[in-house]
Amino acid sequence: MNVGELATIHGASFSFAPRPWSAAEFESLLISPNVKLFQQTGGFAIFRFAGPEAELLTIAVDPALRRQGIAKRLMLAGHDSAKSAGVEEVFLEVSQENPHAKSLYERFGYEARAIRTNYYSGPNGQKINSIVMRCVL
Ligand SMILES: CC(C)(COP(=O)(O)OP(=O)(O)OC[C@H]1O[C@@H](n2cnc3c(N)ncnc32)[C@H](O)[C@@H]1OP(=O)(O)O)[C@@H](O)C(=O)NCCC(=O)NCCS
Repeated sequence: MNVGELATIHGASFSFAPRPWSAAEFESLLISPNVKLFQQTGGFAIFRFAGPEAELLTIAVDPALRRQGIAKRLMLAGHDSAKSAGVEEVFLEVSQENPHAKSLYERFGYEARAIRTNYYSGPNGQKINSIVMRCVL
């Protein structure tokens, strides 16, 4: 998948909380050797590995291809690669108003560790909390 395709799927997946990332933003993010892209047809996940810790930076699946296990395969690939690289725990941050993603993460053993109050702004300027989740690999 090229950066334009990543931006298209990301744009179809996020309007706010967080906002869509541009192709140029993906380009500059993926330059870093610690940033790892995992792809499946119709979806991708990006992790940042940092010694014994990793962060899931984003995961998105084409709306037309959801509920087919793509995200589960992406999470598995990311976790397998992280374990091989010596990562012991993975952190992520998710909007409190994103129950589907929370459900995905809980299936992989992520637990809430902190709430970031008013972390995002919604479309009408309303504030939305985010949840920091952690998984021990
Ligand atoms: C969250 C997202 C990545 C899931 O992708 P997906 O390929 O549809 O997910 P999968 O088919 O692999 O499903 C994995 C699990 O996620 C949860 N899930 C995903 N979509 C769900 C839905 N519509 N309703 C309830 N649970 C859902 C379930 O636990 C599911 O397991 P199950 O099918 O065995 O019940 C996708 O909905 C998406 O791109 N959303 C917009 C972007 C986003 O919110 N990313 C996460 C930001 S932190």
